[in-house]
Order: sequence, then structure tokens, then C-alpha cells
Amino acid sequence: MTAAPLVPGPVTVRVPAKVNLELLVGPCRSDGYHSLATVYQAVGLYDDITVAAADDFGVSVGGPLADGVPTDDDNIALRAARLLADRHEGSPVHVSIRKGIPVAGGMAGGSADAAGTLVALDHLWGLDLVREEIEEIGSELGSDVPFLVAGGTAMGSGRGERLAPVLARGTYHWVLALADGGLPTPEVYAECDRLRGAHDVPEPVATPTLMAALRTGDPHELATQLTNDLQEAAVSLRPDLGETLAAGMEYGALGGIVSGSGPTCAFLVETTEAGIDLAVALTASGVAADVRRASGPVHGAHVIHHRVD
Ligand code: C5P
Repeated sequence: MTAAPLVPGPVTVRVPAKVNLELLVGPCRSDGYHSLATVYQAVGLYDDITVAAADDFGVSVGGPLADGVPTDDDNIALRAARLLADRHEGSPVHVSIRKGIPVAGGMAGGSADAAGTLVALDHLWGLDLVREEIEEIGSELGSDVPFLVAGGTAMGSGRGERLAPVLARGTYHWVLALADGGLPTPEVYAECDRLRGAHDVPEPVATPTLMAALRTGDPHELATQLTNDLQEAAVSLRPDLGETLAAGMEYGALGGIVSGSGPTCAFLVETTEAGIDLAVALTASGVAADVRRASGPVHGAHVIHHRVD
């Protein structure tokens, strides 16, 4: 008797969010992107991406933060599935997204979904691509996608898609103040350009003191190095973020920044317990629409479930 062939069942990948410990924005390039020097850290807020063979390409979105995610052809996970299928003769799939990362929140939630979809389909289709290949395809979908495939702590250059490893010790505890509504990334970059006016902007270079702080593993050291060139622009578009940042510091954060292009604010605290205290204080103060805790660095997109029937 011959055994029935194994049919690959749904694959689920868990993919983290990111904060930028440093985000230095250079001049606007001829392709409309800004050259960046950034240091990413993957933090433990997750989207789960499940892919399964289907008659047609499609996407559905659920979970606590599903509102506002497109379910048409604009969906970045669907675009990722089609792109990989074009490259590797993949057949149609349905992508289900469970959102735990804020939408348009400056934590790369969309890029995470693209990264998760690529890793999940690599597994479903048995492509066995090397990570660099997945990152390269990911970079066509969004500047942060390669980092969400890689995870950990890394430096990003170019428009953020070119990664180099960073030696980071320890685990860092974050409290994330979510805002009502999102901030469109292109608008925040445009506001940054507007605020800078006609000044010549130099090519950005990552700060050696930040790298030194990450090698100590001491959150007090890291807190002094948190920098975001998009913060002024995000606060200019959403002045309420100024109050959120002030509240976080007043309630005991070691440091606080707007995460990426915002509007999420990320506060660094010393311990899990300090994180709980700050989360309670921020929630009670009403400055944030919602508050989450997460630690980092964590792994990039990884398979958590694969059913074989
Ligand atoms: O690459 P991603 O799709 O995440 O970028 C979204 C938008 O953010 C870009 O279209 C661009 O307006 C802006 N951006 C930028 N410079 C970067 C990254 C993003 O101007 N390095």
C-alpha cells in the first residue's frame, strides 16, 4: 500500500513590530525616498500571518487592531504574495492577518505583514530561499520589510533597506502609547522637509555613542541616545503627541520618542515592573488611546505553525 502524498496545509508566521532607536533623515533622493541612517530594534508586538492554498489570491484581516487595514489589491501582504508567486511560479493563496501591531502607527505594521507573508510562502511552497533573497524581494515592497524578516537589532542605510548587524546586549523594556488614527508616512517625511526649509542636509551617519550604549546593555545608557529626526514633524502634524511624550517622562520613563513616523510613542523603562507602572499611569491619564508593553530585541518573522494533512 502506498502512502497518500503529504499536502502542505496552512502555514502561520509570527512577525514583530519595530522601533527605531535612532532615525537620522538625510536629503530627499531623486527617487523620492530619503537617505537614512537608522538603528532598528524588533519588539514583541506581533502580527500572525497565515497562508493557505486557495482558488484565488485574497486577504482577510482580524485581531484587536484590524481597523483601517485595506482588504483589496492595495494590501501589502497580498502584493507580497503576488510578487513571490510571479518570481517562483507560486499558485494562488489566501492570506489571513491577525493584527496586533498598530496600523499606520510608525511600527512597520504593514511591512511586517509583507515580511510575514514572504516567509510563510517560502515555507508553504518549499522554496527554501536564503534569508537575503527574501529580504531582497521584501525591499521592493517597503523599506522596513527586510528588517522585519531579519529581526533583532540592526543598522539600516540606503532608504532603510540595507542592513548591517549591530552588537546589542540585554533585553530592553518598552511601553508603547498608541494614538487614535494613524499618520501617513509620506506626509511626515514631507513635513520634515518643510520644517527644514531650503537648508542643505548632510548624508546621515549612525552615531557611535548609540552603538556603545547598546554594547553595555544598560537601558539608562540607551535612553540618552534615543533620537528621531521625524519626531518634530510628527508632533507638528499631531501636537497631542507632545503631551504624550511629556506624560511618559513625567511618569518615570527613562527615555521617550515618537516611533518612526508616529503617532505611536515608545518609552524605554528599566524593568518589566516599571513598564507595568508606566502603562497603568499612561492609561489612567488618558493621553493615549491604548497602551501596550513589549520587550526587545526579538526574532524576525518565523514559522509558528505548519499543518501537514
Ligand atoms: O518604503 P515604504 O513604503 O515604507 O515608504 C513609504 C513612504 O515613506 C515612501 O513612499 C516615502 O514617501 C517615505 N519614505 C521616505 N524615505 C525613506 C522611507 C520612506 O521618504 N527612507
